[in-house]
Amino acid sequence: MCGIVGAVAQRDVAPILLEGLSRLEYRGYDSCGICTISNGSLRCIKTTQKVRVLMDMVRDEGCPGKTGIAHTRWATHGVPTATNAHPHIVGTLSMVHNGIIENFAQMKETLVKEGYAFKSQTDTEVLLAQIHFLHVKKGLPLKEAFATALRGVKGSYALALIDSEDPDTIYAARYGSPLVIGLGIEENFVASDVLALLPVTRRFIYLDEGEIAVLTTKSVRIYSLDLVEHHHEICESDLDAESISKGKYRHFMQKEIFEQPEALKNTAMGRLGADNADLSSITGFDPKLLEKTDCIKIVACGTSYHAGLVGKYWLEELAGISTSVEIASEYRYRRAVVKDNTLFITISQSGETADTLACLRLAKKQGYSASLCICNAGSSSLVRESDFAMLTRAGAEIGVASTKAFTTQLLSLLLITLYLGRTRKTISAEEGRKIVNAIKALPDAAREVLSGDEKIKELAGRFADKHNCLFLGRGIMYPIALEGALKLKEISYIHAEGYAAGELKHGPIALIDETMPVVVVAPDNALLSKLESNIEEVRARGGRLYVFSQEGSNAFKDDRQTNIIKLPAADPVLQPILFTLPLQQLAYHCAVINGTDVDQPRNLAKSVTVE
Ligand code: G6P
Repeated sequence: MCGIVGAVAQRDVAPILLEGLSRLEYRGYDSCGICTISNGSLRCIKTTQKVRVLMDMVRDEGCPGKTGIAHTRWATHGVPTATNAHPHIVGTLSMVHNGIIENFAQMKETLVKEGYAFKSQTDTEVLLAQIHFLHVKKGLPLKEAFATALRGVKGSYALALIDSEDPDTIYAARYGSPLVIGLGIEENFVASDVLALLPVTRRFIYLDEGEIAVLTTKSVRIYSLDLVEHHHEICESDLDAESISKGKYRHFMQKEIFEQPEALKNTAMGRLGADNADLSSITGFDPKLLEKTDCIKIVACGTSYHAGLVGKYWLEELAGISTSVEIASEYRYRRAVVKDNTLFITISQSGETADTLACLRLAKKQGYSASLCICNAGSSSLVRESDFAMLTRAGAEIGVASTKAFTTQLLSLLLITLYLGRTRKTISAEEGRKIVNAIKALPDAAREVLSGDEKIKELAGRFADKHNCLFLGRGIMYPIALEGALKLKEISYIHAEGYAAGELKHGPIALIDETMPVVVVAPDNALLSKLESNIEEVRARGGRLYVFSQEGSNAFKDDRQTNIIKLPAADPVLQPILFTLPLQQLAYHCAVINGTDVDQPRNLAKSVTVE
């Protein structure tokens, strides 16, 4: 979703801003722009094309200046046009924004009466006009005008503001959308994400909700919205600028698929005992609080929600804990009944997803015993605001379609299940040892599955021209079918739906004919014979089957209608993780064949920081 970069320096900032924007491209956007202060006036360039086009425009048209802001926009209010793109300008002020100003219509009405006219359809321009009104017409110093305007805002924002009459300062603020301050030597920066600033600094300050920052080359001062000064710790990032390079791969998604063996190894590192998981690396770890858990509520969005669904099967079957899983955007707007000793778990790659974060804040008022987040971003809002945080350690994930973040979320949930099951004695020492050994073998098992890439590529060749597709699974493989379908639709734009195979005859079977591919996730497990019956129902209606089975299974026969893809046999507890991998590869290759933008599929954002 929208990306912000700002810099105040003693050198031209356009190269820093543009490099920052290109590092934020992965978040998803539909237009972009830059504004610098040059010789006391604003120089602004915007486009509805990619950042590389903006770079060409800046090179051709020139954008000098030692203070500037830049933005990638993911449209919320107003279609993606250059006029609606940020930065916006009112008088001598220019501003970029990530978030939604919910009361912008009322604000606009008043401002129109005051004589303001608006060029764009955005809420951002209205907020900027409000700041301008308070500064220029009411005579408040800019910092006070900024704070006063923000105190009147309903909604969410991350903002960076400059004034050509105050050319050595950037004003920034956040509420509900991420923003980080980067500290350089005689230069300071602001951005939506540390990744944007890694080429210029590794020292950061994470703004808290409702804080304002005033940046000059010499200082960074932080205030509450009431302008009381706050002091923050400086954090050193251990990410390096290389974290976002494609290396030998054609796409980030492809790189991230193949990074999974390593990522899974990192997730488990230091977290395994002889027959149990060692969760002491969880920040704020409190064994007593976790052990008295009777119920679990998991809340998440998108792929992370699918991880939660898998977690439910494990937590109920292996640890005997009643677990329910909900989509965050639904949970936050309904009345929930919370039983005693219920642990609230959020799952998120970014830790900044607006709905998931809102649920955590709500849950704190709802009587849960504690909140635990499973997250890939160590300094995210979700991690900072949860009682406990288990980091998935997948490394930076840039491809919009989540891959290694998902499988490391699954492994984190398995580790939590193992710990809770051992503590509650629903998992015996011997079973615990077996799970520990399976997890130790997981990176190699994942590597072996991924080595079947060529076969999957060939399969994708038969798939890519299809317009619709069904994914079927049963039991714990049902959420894997959902995730397989989501991956395919996200990046190849083939309409795909995941179904619990037992539901087939309650509707989707009406769609089956010889043109409809049906992907079945079918490892050897207790539900295999049930799944076979469901598959027969598809065969009887001429459906084309693509069955992911495993070596040694006698369950399916290759024939004109049925393609069998065999995965290496592995411990059953690993099946959800291992069977995810070829489905990611299938989606990836279909997208490449269809020529879509694999890493930044249309209309999607990596980090959904608005509701
Ligand atoms: C977006 C991304 C998905 C992701 C979802 C939840 O839709 O495109 O890949 O699964 O947000 O994001 P989170 O960061 O909370 O896991």
